[in-house]
Amino acid sequence: MKELIQKFKEHVIEKCSNPEFIHNKWFVKYHLEILENLTMEVCDFYPECDRDIVSLMVWLHDYGKIINFNNQYEETLTSGLKKLIEIGFEKQFSEKVINYVNIMDKKVDIEKSSIEVQIMSSCDGVSHLVGPFFNLWWHENPNKTFEELMKDNVKKAMKDWNKKVVLPIVKEKFQVRYDILLEKCGKIPDKFF
Ligand SMILES: [Fe+2]
Repeated sequence: MKELIQKFKEHVIEKCSNPEFIHNKWFVKYHLEILENLTMEVCDFYPECDRDIVSLMVWLHDYGKIINFNNQYEETLTSGLKKLIEIGFEKQFSEKVINYVNIMDKKVDIEKSSIEVQIMSSCDGVSHLVGPFFNLWWHENPNKTFEELMKDNVKKAMKDWNKKVVLPIVKEKFQVRYDILLEKCGKIPDKFF
């Protein structure tokens, strides 16, 4: 299992380096690797979870975005499944993991889903609060005004926080980072002391 996951990971890293992928300069280092470390830490709190599934989901969940940005969700489900089977994962297992990613993408009733989906969704949501993720939005959209960019950041941060982050342990750990981001994007407190 570990070898297959490694093989898929290497495939994704290679795909990320394609200059046609808009986030090619930073996606592995500042999203996928941060997410991998974070999910493995959170798995320690849930001994019942299947770490291999979570680990594979880290490298799979944005697959469509990497290879076909404009049809990303559909692409993950179709090409992602095809690639998993091609690499050597069993069909039934591949379908299960693809279905987990689908639930994650829909962002509905995540808290009622499997622990692997809850860990992935929560960690994906807060991973954006680590490193330059929100600054990169500014870097990649130089034609927008700073007010628009601030608004975009707030919208993205709130969507992640409210729909994706379902595990209380994750929310608690990242609350301060979330509040600071909102402050940087215009939610200035009336009092500081
Ligand atoms: Fe992601």
